[in-house]
Amino acid sequence: MIKKNWYAVLPSAQLGRTPVKTTVHDTDFVLLRGADGLPHAFSAYCPHRGCDLSRGTVEHNHLVCPFHGWRFDPTGRCTHIPANRANAPIPKSAQVTAYPACDAIGLIWVYTQPEQTHQMTPTLELFPEFQTVLWRRVPFEMSWHASFCRVVESVLDISHLPFVHPETTGKDVSPVVDHLDYAVQHTGIVIHPKPFAPTHPMEPVPAPPGVAEQTEIELLFPNRWIIRTPMGNENWMCTFLTFTPTTQETTHVFGVVMRNFQLDSEFLDDFHLEHTFFVLNEDKEIIECLRPMRAPDLKSESHVASDGPTIRFRSMLFDAIRIENTGG
Ligand code: FES
Ligand SMILES: [Fe+2]
Repeated sequence: MIKKNWYAVLPSAQLGRTPVKTTVHDTDFVLLRGADGLPHAFSAYCPHRGCDLSRGTVEHNHLVCPFHGWRFDPTGRCTHIPANRANAPIPKSAQVTAYPACDAIGLIWVYTQPEQTHQMTPTLELFPEFQTVLWRRVPFEMSWHASFCRVVESVLDISHLPFVHPETTGKDVSPVVDHLDYAVQHTGIVIHPKPFAPTHPMEPVPAPPGVAEQTEIELLFPNRWIIRTPMGNENWMCTFLTFTPTTQETTHVFGVVMRNFQLDSEFLDDFHLEHTFFVLNEDKEIIECLRPMRAPDLKSESHVASDGPTIRFRSMLFDAIRIENTGG
């Protein structure tokens, strides 16, 4: 896994003054919202005797362990040990690890590399569709019993559409993927799948001649993804997904279906959500059966030209992990 990255862990509305435990790539974190209203994230177990700190309490911006009442400030430093005489020194080891956390687009995000004094945490980059209020957004989430790499590859894979989604996104789509239009950028991957046929009534209105509206898939490496479907007249329906590797073999997906027209239409909210769940469940069923569950080295699988985006993603991911592990 890439540690130097932001992962969504919880809908913002679920984080209050009670600590919550969450897991990213087999590591447990405790989250809380302090008196300052901001989310804070820490390693989940007390340095004293390993108590699960999500059973503790929040006092102002401090996390209090339920076992012996040790109190930790937002930097993770222990500031009070009730059993100690006043002024008794607090051991240096009485420290939980604090992680950068933020609240964005209705989700709590954790940067899974601890804050380091000499390094600034990069800001969480999201898509421009989230920078304006002129969009209707409906959130959802689901869990897949599949590894992060396999799941992300599935949303960059064009040639599976007519086979996995014969009644929806793959309906009437030729299985031949000719000259796949995609670009690898330093921020991720952009794909313009053609032809692409979202089902009625999301079927895109053909763009007027000369207007370069086309369906676009964009990945902000490694875990933020959007598909933009043109509906004509500058109207767009988009689905945003972000992927969080909870364990080596499970991935949580947080999504938002969104559109910039008919903002009050409950019918479109329901339709878009139902359609998205239907399509994602078709993907989930296939991706959960892939073996090995963890995507292997590229040499261990067979590839063809239409696998371009997934091959590029896997090598970007493996390179990033290798660079992190060698301290680069
Ligand atoms: S285990 Fe947390 S204070 Fe003792
Ligand atoms: Fe799919």
